[in-house]
Amino acid sequence: MRQILVTSALPYANGHIHLGHLVEYLQTDIWVRFQKMMGNRCIYICADDTHGTAISISAQKQGISEEELIAEMSEAHQRDFAGFGIEFDNFGSTNSEESREVCHEIWAALRKADMVTEQEIEQLFDIEKGVFLADRFVRGTCPKCESKDQPGDNCGSCGETYTPVDLIDPISTLSGTTPEIRSAKHLFVQIEKLHDFLADWTQSGTLPPESANYLKNFFLNEPLRDWDISRPGPYFGFEIPDSPGNYWYVWYDAPIGYIGSTAQWCAANGEELDDWWKSDKTEIHHFIGKDIQYFHTLFWPAMLKTAGFNLPTKVHIHGFLNVGGEKMSKSRGTFIQAAKYLEHLNPSYLRYYYATRLSSKVEDLDLNPEEFVTKINSDLVGKVVNLASRTAKFIQDVGLSETYPDDGGLFETFAARGEAIAEHYEAGDYSKAMRTIMELADQANPFVESNAPWELRKDADKAQQLQDVCTVALNLFRTLVIYLAPVLPDIARKAGELFGEELTSWDQAQKPLTGVKIAKFQHMMQRVDPKRIGAMIEESKEEEETPEAPAGSWDDTGAHLEKDPIAEEITIDDFFKTDLRVARIVEAKEVPEARKLVQLTLSLGGDERRNVFAGIKSAYEPEDLVGRLVVMVANLAPRKMKFGVSEGMIIASGPGGKDIFLLSPDEGAEPGQRVG
Ligand code: MSP
Ligand code: ZN
Repeated sequence: MRQILVTSALPYANGHIHLGHLVEYLQTDIWVRFQKMMGNRCIYICADDTHGTAISISAQKQGISEEELIAEMSEAHQRDFAGFGIEFDNFGSTNSEESREVCHEIWAALRKADMVTEQEIEQLFDIEKGVFLADRFVRGTCPKCESKDQPGDNCGSCGETYTPVDLIDPISTLSGTTPEIRSAKHLFVQIEKLHDFLADWTQSGTLPPESANYLKNFFLNEPLRDWDISRPGPYFGFEIPDSPGNYWYVWYDAPIGYIGSTAQWCAANGEELDDWWKSDKTEIHHFIGKDIQYFHTLFWPAMLKTAGFNLPTKVHIHGFLNVGGEKMSKSRGTFIQAAKYLEHLNPSYLRYYYATRLSSKVEDLDLNPEEFVTKINSDLVGKVVNLASRTAKFIQDVGLSETYPDDGGLFETFAARGEAIAEHYEAGDYSKAMRTIMELADQANPFVESNAPWELRKDADKAQQLQDVCTVALNLFRTLVIYLAPVLPDIARKAGELFGEELTSWDQAQKPLTGVKIAKFQHMMQRVDPKRIGAMIEESKEEEETPEAPAGSWDDTGAHLEKDPIAEEITIDDFFKTDLRVARIVEAKEVPEARKLVQLTLSLGGDERRNVFAGIKSAYEPEDLVGRLVVMVANLAPRKMKFGVSEGMIIASGPGGKDIFLLSPDEGAEPGQRVG
């Protein structure tokens, strides 16, 4: 029996799980379920990746603390994963004491190996806030293509990577001021000291050949660059024990989260961490996407090696998800969140569809909506589920025949394919496994067709023949379900109920089931309704975050001014009578008795709060409003309404209904600031 520890990459806690992520978590879950069915000891470990500037920015945007954000996200992630039948043995967090301890242990080992150096590097400093600015807290003009308002690490327009110091006209997103260049001390890990080890290890068969070949180039001539591992505070992460004021960069502690989460599992299950992470008997399998290879194939093994932990036995690397042949897109509605999918479609569909598309190669895969429908409806429902739904009802009373009937060698053929299918699963070639299983299904269906149990049933003399035909069909069905069980645990469970046994072991496919009663047939899977896919895509459509029209090509209508001409001229003094301020919505709730109103609590900074009733319910969900910045008229006379006093109004445009558009200031604005 093998002892196997399996991980998926730790999802960032600053966003929801979408169908792209699910490629990985479903791929991993299938592999783990397969290993468990083979009788191996296998645990599936994951966690949320909670540190770094992106998390701070998200939290700040929503007006909550980082801890609150990661707690909410952990719950949402786990709910989504559970909805897809993804079963972790432990789902932890990088922001845990267990992870912190391992961070310290590995750090001590890196120090001891004399691999940590200090270097002064130039960084932008926000004078007003008194802090060094991490990459994401700076925006400015790209030094290469001169696109404006780009983040501090890489250009969203031309893709160039740089450091914030390279930006033209940098602006701090914390204060809106221009930062100055100061030098700061950073800690670096010299992975070059492990050059020879890494050169060997990356070529040792642990990685897919494509990745191994790619990495070869890294080692040919050049020394490996030192890895910048620290960030000066404030930074949401762990402070480096022997370098106060400095924090580990998120990618230092992210993979350590694998070990931290395992430690949690060990504590809960009376196991020793060293039996899993410092023992020859354990295999470690990482499943990751191609975008995060370097971290897992260079830095991570270097850390593990230095600190005496197990090295990964295998790193399984997958490509990216496209939808309908194109990159997932918010405006086309193909950036689909896990929770949105679950509102419309059965999770088993996606589990099966991905399985038919996944191989051991590092290649992108496509979710094609038409093919999705055919694969489910004609393969899964038409060929597999139908075997049972067309036969089980005829032997509800008598059960399966006492001895397995002559089926012309079909069952034997089915049993014999088990080994090949298992090899495909083991290798991550799920598409081959699915194809082999469907080839078997293609042999089972003609058997049912030609023996036509629905005809036999009409003739009382043919009762035995009817029972035998159904016994064969149901046994073939049972074998297919066992082979599909890693992919379709839900169907395996329902089939288990039908046969009165749990289908949890691969070996069960080797022996036919006879002489038992079967339970009342219950529906196993419905056909996909293509309309639901359309609805899901429609509801996923969002404005792209930065809709970029090339200059000069706008095509704005003149209809609004025509309908609603510009008002009589005023002086600037007239204008300033209206005191417009930036405000943050800190609370938003429905007013049950009012059809159009949302009750908002606006913060103007400090303790200054306003109660405002806004007629925007037709366009906004209260929970989506909390945290966002708006512009309000702050000196409007309070107005008594049926439901309370309204102390101001927020600024929006649009005719009403779904077309109401709240105005919000650009990033960096703060509650209380005057608008004008
Ligand atoms: N937090 C890091 C991983 C740290 S591991 C120690 C991260 N998080 S992520 O949320 O961005 O991505 C998690 C995993 O999902 C990654 O392996 C990534 O490759 C995968 N995917 C995210 N989007 C994807 C697609 N669109 N398609 C396929 N996989 C994708 O990276
Ligand atoms: Zn650029």
